[in-house]
Amino acid sequence: MTSQPVEATGHEGHLRQGGRGLLLALYTALRSLKLYPVENATVQRALDDLEASSEALLEADPEIEIRLAGDFIFVNATRLRLELDNYASFSHILTMLRSFEVGVLRVHRAVRRQEWQAFLSILLSLAERPVAEPFEELAERLEQATVRGLLLEKAQPEAETTDERAREVAKRTYSQGVAVAKEVVTGIRLGRATSVKKVKRAVQMIVDQVLNNETSLVGLTTLRDYDEYTFTHSVNVCIFAVALGKKLGFSKVQLYDLGMTALMHDIGKARIPIDVLNKTSGLDDAEWRIMQTHPWYGALTLFNLRGYDEIPYRSILVAHEHHMKTDLTGYPKPIRPRALGLFSRIVAVADGFDAATTRRSYQTVPIEPDQVLREMWENPRRGYDPVLVKALINLIGIYPVGTCVILDTMEVAVVAAMNPDGQQLNRPMVRIVIDVDGGVVPPPGRLVSLGEQSAAGGYARSIVKVTNASRYGLTVSDYFV
Ligand SMILES: [Fe+2]
Ligand SMILES: [Fe+2]
Repeated sequence: MTSQPVEATGHEGHLRQGGRGLLLALYTALRSLKLYPVENATVQRALDDLEASSEALLEADPEIEIRLAGDFIFVNATRLRLELDNYASFSHILTMLRSFEVGVLRVHRAVRRQEWQAFLSILLSLAERPVAEPFEELAERLEQATVRGLLLEKAQPEAETTDERAREVAKRTYSQGVAVAKEVVTGIRLGRATSVKKVKRAVQMIVDQVLNNETSLVGLTTLRDYDEYTFTHSVNVCIFAVALGKKLGFSKVQLYDLGMTALMHDIGKARIPIDVLNKTSGLDDAEWRIMQTHPWYGALTLFNLRGYDEIPYRSILVAHEHHMKTDLTGYPKPIRPRALGLFSRIVAVADGFDAATTRRSYQTVPIEPDQVLREMWENPRRGYDPVLVKALINLIGIYPVGTCVILDTMEVAVVAAMNPDGQQLNRPMVRIVIDVDGGVVPPPGRLVSLGEQSAAGGYARSIVKVTNASRYGLTVSDYFV
């Protein structure tokens, strides 16, 4: 019993090391064959290495299965560790094989050196020009060259569909949240009773979704419908608040509570005259005073909801406190000194971030998210809880999903996700939307990690500055749907 795991680790270690060696050899051979004719000594040496490393692996196993799954490479079901020194070569091979829709490469024990050579030459020659059916063409060419020791399997679009399904569910949850927020506000405007149950259900869906798959829902907050600001804003604040609560270790029940308070935080706006609420130019003093009544109108409205359910005490508090600021310089002015509740501080941070990054009718150019976060973090007069701002930065990165950035390669990209290692906040995954030559890359763009190293050492790409997508005639949401 005790010897088994040790043995397994030994074999796994062997696979990991051997697999890494094989991929590096494959990369080197591919590169040298691209640069030199086949009879060149460098190419021959690289092929020797390749043959030797595949033979070494085939000693222990009858065949080698190199499987590509997402951003990972598995060799006989053992995942290869990505390290800085092999990152460039691994991602090169991943990109190359993926461009041919290869999901699995099987190396048979009978593989001959000439077959490796033929395989690499075919890959390189086909990569030179666009091919309609890359996998089929590659397979056919290998067949013609009677390569029998290397077998290919086409990539299953499975990962994509799971991804798509997750996005679909996220979108449904999001639009349901917006619909409920709309119903509540319209109900209050018309003096109709609101079903608290319905709101609770929408919040539960958001919480469940954030717990299952945070990124897809947080990603949606950038794809707002500008005409529906009041309602999308409530849903966005709810999503950010719940995601923050999750980061802080809240329980599911606490998250339901928090989500509820966040969704209802601006409910007092239902009592603000529509023409003030939707004004396209800046507000004058009188109108601004009217706007500032929404926190206590909110508290009042929620207070009247009691009877439908238990008194939503926390919601009343959050509606009342969310613009007070931690130093109490906001509004409404409290009569006695007080410490803002945790829920209020969370909602204030979520609210401040969403409000500042959204383009509203009178604010045609939104402030870029990185500037907003910096301001929230650096300027104490903004009155946000710094610990929570830090948590928000950790949650969405310095460059939130959907941010349009210019890279030092002169490419323009849209932030697609945080860097998977979670540490490199300034090196997210991006979709290239404008290439080096200034050509627009059609949706979904080309996904690259800014953590990727260049062959010469250093990073392949870095963010120079944040820009506005509309300046390039781009619609960010095209790259996400
Ligand atoms: Fe508000
Ligand atoms: Fe708000």
